[in-house]
Amino acid sequence: MNRVNKFVAALVLMPVLALNNMLSAQTNQSMENKVNTIFNQLTLEQKIGQMTQIASTNGDEVPQYVIDAIKEGRVGSILNAGTPKAIEKIQKIVAKESPNKIPLIIGRDVIHGYKTIFPIPLGQAASWNRKLVETGANIAGKEAYDEGINWTFAPMIDISRDPRWGRIAESLGEDPYLTAELGTAMVVGFQGNELSSEKGRIAACAKHFIGYGATENGKDYNAVSIPDYQLWNTYLPPFKAALDAGVGTFMTAFNDINGIPASANQFLLKEVLREKWNFDGFVVSDWESMSQMINQGYSENLRDVALQSASAQLDMEMVSSAYQKHLKELVESGEIDIEIVNTAVKNILRVKVALGLFEQEYNGVPKDTEILSATHKAEAKKMAIESLVLLKNENILPLKIKNQKIGIVGPLADAPAEQVGTWSLDAVIDEVVTPFNAFQEAFGDQIVFAQGLENARSNKTDQIQATVDAMKGVKDVIVFAGEDAILSGEGHSRAFINLPGAQEALIDALAEADKNIILVVQAGRPLTLGTIEDKVNAILYAWHPGTMGGPAILDVITGKVTPSGKLPVTFPRTLGQVPIYYSSIESGRPANPQMLGIPTGTPLDPVGLTNNYLDVSVTPAYAFGYGLSYTSFSISKPKLSNTELVKGEKISVTVEVKNTGKYEGAEVVQLYIHDKVASYMRPKLELKGFEKVYLAPGESKKVTFEIGDDQLSFFDKNGNVLLEKGKFEIFVGNASDNLASEIITLKDIK
Ligand code: NOJ
Repeated sequence: MNRVNKFVAALVLMPVLALNNMLSAQTNQSMENKVNTIFNQLTLEQKIGQMTQIASTNGDEVPQYVIDAIKEGRVGSILNAGTPKAIEKIQKIVAKESPNKIPLIIGRDVIHGYKTIFPIPLGQAASWNRKLVETGANIAGKEAYDEGINWTFAPMIDISRDPRWGRIAESLGEDPYLTAELGTAMVVGFQGNELSSEKGRIAACAKHFIGYGATENGKDYNAVSIPDYQLWNTYLPPFKAALDAGVGTFMTAFNDINGIPASANQFLLKEVLREKWNFDGFVVSDWESMSQMINQGYSENLRDVALQSASAQLDMEMVSSAYQKHLKELVESGEIDIEIVNTAVKNILRVKVALGLFEQEYNGVPKDTEILSATHKAEAKKMAIESLVLLKNENILPLKIKNQKIGIVGPLADAPAEQVGTWSLDAVIDEVVTPFNAFQEAFGDQIVFAQGLENARSNKTDQIQATVDAMKGVKDVIVFAGEDAILSGEGHSRAFINLPGAQEALIDALAEADKNIILVVQAGRPLTLGTIEDKVNAILYAWHPGTMGGPAILDVITGKVTPSGKLPVTFPRTLGQVPIYYSSIESGRPANPQMLGIPTGTPLDPVGLTNNYLDVSVTPAYAFGYGLSYTSFSISKPKLSNTELVKGEKISVTVEVKNTGKYEGAEVVQLYIHDKVASYMRPKLELKGFEKVYLAPGESKKVTFEIGDDQLSFFDKNGNVLLEKGKFEIFVGNASDNLASEIITLKDIK
């Protein structure tokens, strides 16, 4: 948010400033004055209170320990504060009985919707639609605001390249650029262009700083090793983008990075976040991530924890109590400089002031709330539609339903609590419209329903034969398979990523009965579908699509709308390929596909000693950026405004995209680059731009991307920007494995 910096800049640039910039600089200064006035009233204990976040319980009541903490000024924030009624009580106790009457900032995990649930973030990322993602966060924020919440712990912008990791569901996928673009869309959706006291705005939180998604072997809370070079180029950019978008808060990660826990990491929190990036919002730890440094073997005891985290300038402790118990004595002994505490408290107050918490009076449930309104549901449906990725279609979709019977089968056809996915703390399950509900409403008696399995994880096969029997006389069967919500999310990693339980057996039995099968997968991660892929006629990947998932799937399957989702993450063929991501580095011995199926007895031959497996192709099942449509598009060869440029200049790359098919549809035009020779090896491909284009049949549009220093530069291992002359390959297409390219040259001088 950097309000103070903006003020200083405003003074320096005074002559050229527009009047409204001046006014906003003055507002910032008056806010800073307010922060100082409040701050000046605080004792050391009360300052440490501001640096403490406690968890309450989820009901109407406010537990006594919370009331005591408020009255004694020992708390600055509460998470999971309870119902609106409980929040009202809390803020009233603050206003009447707390020593300084500083409002608490009420936090909650509003991750992909509050009561109207949008698709899981990984599904939203598949829309490649910045505006829809922003609107989703905006609606989530508004609904939460209406119930007294001031702060969400989103977006999670951890780069995620291991589908075993349960939290991949909460991520925006594997790519730094896509994550940065959609992560900032979420920040803006929650906060607006900066933190504000506007009604319906809440603070966002860029989490988890940093590297949580690189957890070793995909197990949650595991160790993380990231070379500095990769940290700068892959993991930090989405956080820098969130900061530039004005995010008010950061959350540290549970993990260590190269042996130093994120919650005590002076390099990351001090050198990068504060000194290099000038962040002036506040940093919160993750849930007990500070006290857990004792388990990690980094801190001897809670006193040590407080010393280490405070030294790294971590401002607010979530749930554990190291600061409460030990920060005062550490300041008094001189081990922690009081200025560290002062700065932390000002950072926290700055966010509270900017959010207008001092003027807000929360009076229980507001009367004119739009929670779960028709408008919110319509937006959730739009987002769900655009999140659907068509992976396979053998001339069956869109399904023409006239008078024939349609089979609706599978454990996830009518499973509302599973459909909302992970992190749906406040979902109203009765409001969820399942695919079964939607198809039945549209086609009534034509629908033949059989669940097939008790649930998605069940290994019991006793209902399978009855399901096949029930489908007698039905040719087209839509099978809803995948993962229960609980199989992804925090602490829910899997060592196998195939369809769980007896779902494959169910699909096998239907395939043997010669049904046309449309497989709809709801899941929190990429799954390996194995031989199932050959047995079904179409695959629509639906992630966990949220409250309006059913109607969205109905509209896409029946052709009312054309699918337009593209994968935000590479789908492996088999777990042995993991980690597999499109932007890897080229090997010195690029893969020779002929090595697959090498005959027994073949002598060791250097020609075959290449970067591949003997037992599975090196290519993924489905590439990053891939997704089919009902219509077809042509994308012309990229046209460059110039093939040479110098530093500071830009060239443009233009393509014409045309809808050459029969349906209205949307194509995501993707721009990638490859730096051919550099002082650090660069990825084979890097996404640098995308645009989603909506076209009627026969219609065409020009799409232009600009390429300049920002796209062509990268970081060295110390975070310095390198812009190196030489050749770059520029690619444009509609998937990372379907691209046309041209070469450009960056020169020192013309
Ligand atoms: C732990 C999770 O890692 C974090 O993302 C979440 O926001 C906090 N718990 C609060 O619930």
